[in-house]
Amino acid sequence: MNTSKAGEGSFGDSDTSAEREMLDPYEASARYYDLWHEDFHDDVEFYLRLAERTGGPVLECMSGTGRVLVPFAQAGYEITGVDRSVTMLDRCTAKVSLEPPSVQQRIELQQGDVADVKLGGKYRLAFMPFNSFLHLLTTAEQEKALLNVHDHLENGGLFSFAVFSPRLDRPEHLVRHRGTRVTTQGEIISWFEAQVFDQANQRTTATYFYDISKQDKPVRRVTTEFTLRYLFFREGLELLSRCGFEVIETYGDYHGGEFTATSGIMVFVARKS
Ligand SMILES: C[S@@+](CC[C@H](N)C(=O)[O-])C[C@H]1O[C@@H](n2cnc3c(N)ncnc32)[C@H](O)[C@@H]1O
Repeated sequence: MNTSKAGEGSFGDSDTSAEREMLDPYEASARYYDLWHEDFHDDVEFYLRLAERTGGPVLECMSGTGRVLVPFAQAGYEITGVDRSVTMLDRCTAKVSLEPPSVQQRIELQQGDVADVKLGGKYRLAFMPFNSFLHLLTTAEQEKALLNVHDHLENGGLFSFAVFSPRLDRPEHLVRHRGTRVTTQGEIISWFEAQVFDQANQRTTATYFYDISKQDKPVRRVTTEFTLRYLFFREGLELLSRCGFEVIETYGDYHGGEFTATSGIMVFVARKS
């Protein structure tokens, strides 16, 4: 594996039972991301099916901790992962180091921003999984990233991304319990989420609370916040075609279902034209 790199939270008010800690979102993600998402494979299988159509090499934009990237290398594809967060990349590097040398050799990691990273090669397939596109907070950023992906694709190469379909009727500030997990170190971690919408700017901010307890130790609360620019279906189609892509398929799930008003996600598959 090759890794190339470019380039604490503060403590809030304590309450009686919990030490509160505000972390950089990606630092918190790196710590807890895999705990909740590692077992999610539907999109991995979807992107692998696309790779069967295109062949490699493959580019994963915003590759995070390697949830999708590592299975691609295990399946025999040469894959480059780009991510802006050193913490997420470090986590990925640790996971990759557990793989056999033949798998490690197929992986290249690059620290950088998808909007302006310059990679040596051209790819047959690029994808940006799991709401990652929504981290691009302005139309200018979205277009810059799409044009950069376009530059990195072979002619006729495919680009795919998937994001949630916005549900603006979801109650704001309602704290939802997203689940409780036990780590291998015996920590019990409960994840809660509250969401607000800023409709004027087409953004949503989610606050994540991770309550961490272990035996008789006091509960520790880690808080992190994510702002995402949600996207509408037609907007996705138009953005892609403005940036030189022909949208060839859209789905409302990872199993080939049509996108409808009630779909939870929208999946775009576009060809470099
Ligand atoms: C939701 S995670 C997805 C990780 C992985 N692709 C997956 O599906 O499990 C989003 C990732 O995007 C990265 N990211 C956000 N904005 C970015 C940008 N402009 N350029 C590169 N990486 C970015 C974050 O660091 C984070 O690792």
